Amino acid sequence: MKPRIAIIGGSNFSELLESPKSVKVKTKYGNPSDFVDIGDFSGKTVAFLPRHGKRRNLPPHMINYRANIFALKKIGVESIIGVTSVGSLKKKISPPCVFIPNDYINLWNVQTYYKKKIGHVTPEIDEKMRKIVVGQAKKNGLTVHEGVYVQTTGPRLETKAEINFLKNYADVVGMNMAAEATLSKELGLRYVNLSSVDNYANGIILESLTFEQILQNARKNSEEIKKILKNVVRVIR
Ligand code: HPA
Repeated sequence: MKPRIAIIGGSNFSELLESPKSVKVKTKYGNPSDFVDIGDFSGKTVAFLPRHGKRRNLPPHMINYRANIFALKKIGVESIIGVTSVGSLKKKISPPCVFIPNDYINLWNVQTYYKKKIGHVTPEIDEKMRKIVVGQAKKNGLTVHEGVYVQTTGPRLETKAEINFLKNYADVVGMNMAAEATLSKELGLRYVNLSSVDNYANGIILESLTFEQILQNARKNSEEIKKILKNVVRVIR
């Protein structure tokens, strides 16, 4: 059966499905981050793509987002759930918790398929899917927050001055979600994001920040995130 739902995994996990079939999907935009896994998840045929590659060898600024989203469209996917790791810009969004963005800021490195013709989509996170994700996440053990995601380019983390600026406009910071949401909209795919809040962004609290710390927290959160995903996939149509 063809997968109508895809999950793009981030630092939290690079594999998700049990005994999947891995397919190589070529696109006119190049190769996606890795083979696309297709298999059963929560009683449905689901596609899974590890954003950073199965070997986690692709840093955020090297990800071919256009190939990733196009590859999913090519195999028949209609709805994408992007799972990402984010840093909190607000003291009250205290990690570990879950964040489900209702909007995003991405004023630089904007991804697009419109390079040879004119097209202007109005960005939007699919509200129907978002409500489902919020509802299912709230049934879980972790606290759920909603708000604005701001995308930085990476691979470095942000300076304290950058965070001091960004915290006035957004609630969490990450390196991936806006790119995927924009491209999905351009291809007419539904996109929703489920973020694991794994740290306070640089300077929000006194404790200094390292990437190792973020990864450790992301792994700790990953079982809860998987449980939410299972419930979301079960009810999504
Ligand atoms: N900044 C950017 N991206 C991130 C962070 C952060 O603090 N944490 C997880 N992804």
